[in-house]
Amino acid sequence: MTRAVITHGPRPGTAETEPDVDMTTWLAGLELPSPVLTASGCAAAGRELDQFFDITSIGAVVTKSIMLNPRSGRPTPRMAETPSGMLNSIGLQGPGIDSFLERDLEWLRQRGARAVVSIAGGSVDEYTRLASKLRHVSDVAAIEVNISCPNVEDRGQVFACQAASAAEVVHAVRRNTAPGIPVLAKLSPDVTDIVEIAQAVVDAGADGLSMINTLLGMVIDTDTMRPALAGVTGGLSGPAIRPVAVRCVYQVHAAMPEVPILGMGGIRTGLDALEFVLAGASAVSVGTVTFNDPSAPARIGRELALALAERGFESLSDAVGYAHRAHEVPVSGGPVAARGHDVEPDADDELEAGAEG
Ligand SMILES: Cc1cc2nc3c(=O)[nH]c(=O)nc-3n(C[C@H](O)[C@H](O)[C@H](O)COP(=O)(O)O)c2cc1C
Repeated sequence: MTRAVITHGPRPGTAETEPDVDMTTWLAGLELPSPVLTASGCAAAGRELDQFFDITSIGAVVTKSIMLNPRSGRPTPRMAETPSGMLNSIGLQGPGIDSFLERDLEWLRQRGARAVVSIAGGSVDEYTRLASKLRHVSDVAAIEVNISCPNVEDRGQVFACQAASAAEVVHAVRRNTAPGIPVLAKLSPDVTDIVEIAQAVVDAGADGLSMINTLLGMVIDTDTMRPALAGVTGGLSGPAIRPVAVRCVYQVHAAMPEVPILGMGGIRTGLDALEFVLAGASAVSVGTVTFNDPSAPARIGRELALALAERGFESLSDAVGYAHRAHEVPVSGGPVAARGHDVEPDADDELEAGAEG
């Protein structure tokens, strides 16, 4: 492990020039040259973003969640602005898996971009069929399982909100996916104990975790005095949710440090991405920010490399989970040196943390 030092400015020869940091990362055996990926649903299949930066240069394109059959999504209006974020109720609009494979995945393959394919379904059988269709398709780097969908066979209960049904979906997808292809389960923050759900999906075969999906929210238009979205509720994303997302990543990494995490939620800058890495994410996805800065995934990758260099890290992997390790008390006038061991919180710490909520 590299000894990290916290400096108060760029170190000579690193930060102001090309940062000399190894940004290679791994998500359950999948090697990525950059830890920054797109977030599902915010960049379709990457084609639009390719005019703003070379999409082969980022970690991977995570595609919009695809379902078995074409869907037109929910009625409009389906976007609303919120303080520091946005609310959407797009409702998994998409062309269905067959057209996706023919056009979108084929385009990604020809372009040479790594593709993480996100799948979504309304029943365990639908997820199973999606995984089976993808099984013999080449150039799928990983599968992300979006389990924030209502289970049509269980009164519309969201799979991700119940450990047993989340595990059932992930088990079915893992069983029907080629052994070398990582399966990432995408978790919802709308649960009481995210560690319990994380543990259940890992036990069911998830190779890694993507977190977090949007939080369920609602806006009421005070002129019409009605819900702003036709679908009434929607998913909250953007900087407003970042502290929730960082907390989720931190808690899950503390409980399962060996499980790779793809972190996301409100990342706009390299420093935001660094928060997720320090909390325990091996890679990050960026979503909402791409709507006002389409080149954000490439920019955030550069900013993250710079931020790591400024803090004395030689590689990204040295920084993963760093916030969980104890630091020495600053020596007066000098940098803070890292001792780099894990700390067990004592009972009083936990009581104090709980008292906040
Ligand atoms: C317009 C929109 C569409 C989204 N569609 C999907 C989707 O199809 N599948 C999925 O797993 N997450 C979807 N998400 C959630 C994002 O992938 C991401 O988890 C969330 O927005 C938090 O990241 P962000 O704050 O960087 O956007 C969507 C988010 C937005 C804003």
